Amino acid sequence: MLNKDTKILILGAKGMLGQDLVKILADYNLVLWDFADIDITDKNQLDSKIGGLKPNIIINCAAFTNVDACETEVDKATMVNGLAVGYLADIAKQLGATLIQISTDYVFNGKNKKGYIEISQEFLPLNAYGASKLLGEKALAKLEKYYLIRTSWLYGKNGKNFVDTISKLGKEKNELKVVNDQAGKPTYTVDLARQILYILSNKLPFGIYHATNETKPDGISWFEFARKIFELASRADYASRTSALIRL
Ligand SMILES: NC(=O)c1ccc[n+]([C@@H]2O[C@H](COP(=O)([O-])OP(=O)(O)OC[C@H]3O[C@@H](n4cnc5c(N)ncnc54)[C@H](OP(=O)(O)O)[C@@H]3O)[C@@H](O)[C@H]2O)c1
Repeated sequence: MLNKDTKILILGAKGMLGQDLVKILADYNLVLWDFADIDITDKNQLDSKIGGLKPNIIINCAAFTNVDACETEVDKATMVNGLAVGYLADIAKQLGATLIQISTDYVFNGKNKKGYIEISQEFLPLNAYGASKLLGEKALAKLEKYYLIRTSWLYGKNGKNFVDTISKLGKEKNELKVVNDQAGKPTYTVDLARQILYILSNKLPFGIYHATNETKPDGISWFEFARKIFELASRADYASRTSALIRL
């Protein structure tokens, strides 16, 4: 599937994951588009621009990722994370291109302590972001050549991320309280980008893949993540001053 002539279109190329993907796939024939180049909610633009480009692979990293804002801007979330994926699936099908869509653990409610495998049907998003991403997932059903890659708690150096935020707070405050009532698997965007390259270069079967960095099987809390960040940054002093905030 992957050789130097394979034309790969990356949408959302200036986003946090997009920028690392561009570096990891640098040896290939890339076309990099972000919001300024194309609005993925505009079906006519997708048809004319992507139809003209004729990529072999479309990797969609474009999304409305502000989870809180999705609650108040539900229509926008539905368009960008849901309906637009359907438009991309239409054009991919027409061109015979492979579509890679990035999704999230938020399509589940997280209550299954054993975690979720790829074929799980226990969809129960608890927020508008998760519901909109699930809509996008369902839109792939019309395609044969797709990879749906679910990931979790992304952090990378090209975006607003927990590692930078907590490190900055650690320098500014004497004591930190960090919530410990949610669990996830923090995932480094470079590792996810490498995983996408692995899937493509090894021609893994089309379908759904869960791709995160490994933690304890049931994930770690934001509190545990914060402690680990300070430990790894050799700031044991911050780590010992970070305590769990129990939300009632
Ligand atoms: N971040 C996480 O913790 C996380 C966790 C699980 C899954 N994911 C998924 O992973 C993927 C990448 O996430 P990320 O954090 O790298 O995203 P990001 O940094 O927010 O980047 C998203 C990019 O998409 C662009 N975009 C937004 N709306 C668009 C539109 N209508 N048309 C074209 N481009 C548009 C944005 O442009 P502007 O900046 O100009 O708006 C931005 O460059 C997304 O599918 C996300 O849902 C993320």
